Amino acid sequence: MITAQSELCLETQRAVSRPEADWPVWVWAALRTDHAGETGAVWIYRGVLATSRDPEVRAFARAHMDTESRHLREVSAIVPAERRSRLVWLWRILGWMTGAVPGLMGRDAVFATIEAVETFVDQHYQEQIDRLRADNGDTSLTSMLDGWRQDEVAHRNDASHRRQAAPGIMLAAWTRLVSAGSAFAVTIARHV
Ligand SMILES: [Fe+2]
Ligand SMILES: [Fe+2]
Repeated sequence: MITAQSELCLETQRAVSRPEADWPVWVWAALRTDHAGETGAVWIYRGVLATSRDPEVRAFARAHMDTESRHLREVSAIVPAERRSRLVWLWRILGWMTGAVPGLMGRDAVFATIEAVETFVDQHYQEQIDRLRADNGDTSLTSMLDGWRQDEVAHRNDASHRRQAAPGIMLAAWTRLVSAGSAFAVTIARHV
């Protein structure tokens, strides 16, 4: 039989062995958006691979998807199911579309889309890192976030080096939509 005291003991042990027990509410909300974002990232590349036949784009998407899959495994390991966004299905669909549409438009569209997404994600992680440092927050979490951020910056630079022409009106409108959509998705995922 589990007594109230042994339950309390178990709770204390958990708190000692798991630093996340002390993470404030804002950290959990941010991590919910990170889990949603990394889910979306994997599905962006699935979308690219579903519609693009360009060998360079496909190799680019496969290489980036490997990193995003690792990010998703790592964030999933620290964000339990009950703390994740309830709209994971939606982030998958929207992620897939964010990759599939430029995959149809051509290689520069894919690279410009990734540049826009990763510019946003770099800022998104940097804000969390800055706040954790200001709050003297969990340093191992801070360095994990910074590792992800550096990978996203490498993705952004890779995309921007591959892009050949400046975006036309259509593509510029699309990347603005992608940036605004990313910000909107984060706002929603923070709460739901
Ligand atoms: Fe990522
Ligand atoms: Fe990335």
